[in-house]
Amino acid sequence: MPIFRRPALLGALASLLVAPAMAQTQITLQHALPLNSHYGAGATALKETLERLTNNRFRVNIQRNDNEREMIESVQIGTIDCTITSTGPVGNFVPAVRNVDVPFLFRDYAHARGVLDSEIGQGLLAQFTPRGLVGVIWLENGFRHLTNSRREVNAPADVRGMKVRTMENQVHMRAFSALGALPTPMAFSELVPALQQGTVDGQENPIPVIVANNLNQVQRFLSLTAHVYSPAVLICNPATLNRMSAADRAHFMEAARAAQRANRERVSADEASGVDELRRRGMTVVTQVDTAAFQAALAPAFAEFERTLDGALLRRIRDWRPAGG
Ligand code: PAF
Repeated sequence: MPIFRRPALLGALASLLVAPAMAQTQITLQHALPLNSHYGAGATALKETLERLTNNRFRVNIQRNDNEREMIESVQIGTIDCTITSTGPVGNFVPAVRNVDVPFLFRDYAHARGVLDSEIGQGLLAQFTPRGLVGVIWLENGFRHLTNSRREVNAPADVRGMKVRTMENQVHMRAFSALGALPTPMAFSELVPALQQGTVDGQENPIPVIVANNLNQVQRFLSLTAHVYSPAVLICNPATLNRMSAADRAHFMEAARAAQRANRERVSADEASGVDELRRRGMTVVTQVDTAAFQAALAPAFAEFERTLDGALLRRIRDWRPAGG
């Protein structure tokens, strides 16, 4: 190599050595369940899609935290970027969300997913903004069923006097009081010790949660009450999204849609196999539940929700049909 070219070469090498490493942005995403769960499936799809679309300029750090209220507060103050949470505690931050927590509001998964993806769901997501949060996309937890350590539950009379852990959710608590149960709100992190110590007799959660958290180890009876659909939502701190370029925000939204698909697919798969799995693990499963009796017992609570929540919105949700359906 001619001697006069060496300084240029050395200069290029030196600039390579001092060139800053490609800037990388870390996104912290917390949720309450094991990685091998319907939330884990959503979080993993978000991570893989965002990292792929941005050539790893964005890295998603998935963490577990089984206190959903605490996670929402952390997103609000910006100590974490995003959370996937059930709507359990969300109504305490965005009151309009309480409407989708009403028991027996959604007929089935197609109804719930259709409503949440429609302008009704988009309208609810828009209400996160004035609360210093971004409601990015609806995911799901699933239809909730009752488990307990005392007896088979077929009808409302069977839950009378039963101490049932509920989420920190006023709508759910009101409904369980109407059934004559003793609702005991607490964070999910406190649930297993409370069941072990007998502070509560029962709890209610979707099949994917009961399976992923081995609740069969602390509960004997499962009743397929499907008394309420439990939506979940991806919530982020506004500054996290505002710092992104328009192109990266579009990548983030694509990753959020991938999360929604993966989460819903996993819920459907767990619903299909979960009840048999729980029987195999020794739970007594009550399939013949008197749904009409549960709905009748909830009549006073329903009348109250029409007044205290958004009655017109509740009717729109009930009347919703898929396009052409
Ligand atoms: O019961 C709850 O608190 C929620 O369903 C859970 C398990 C944290 C999932 O969102």
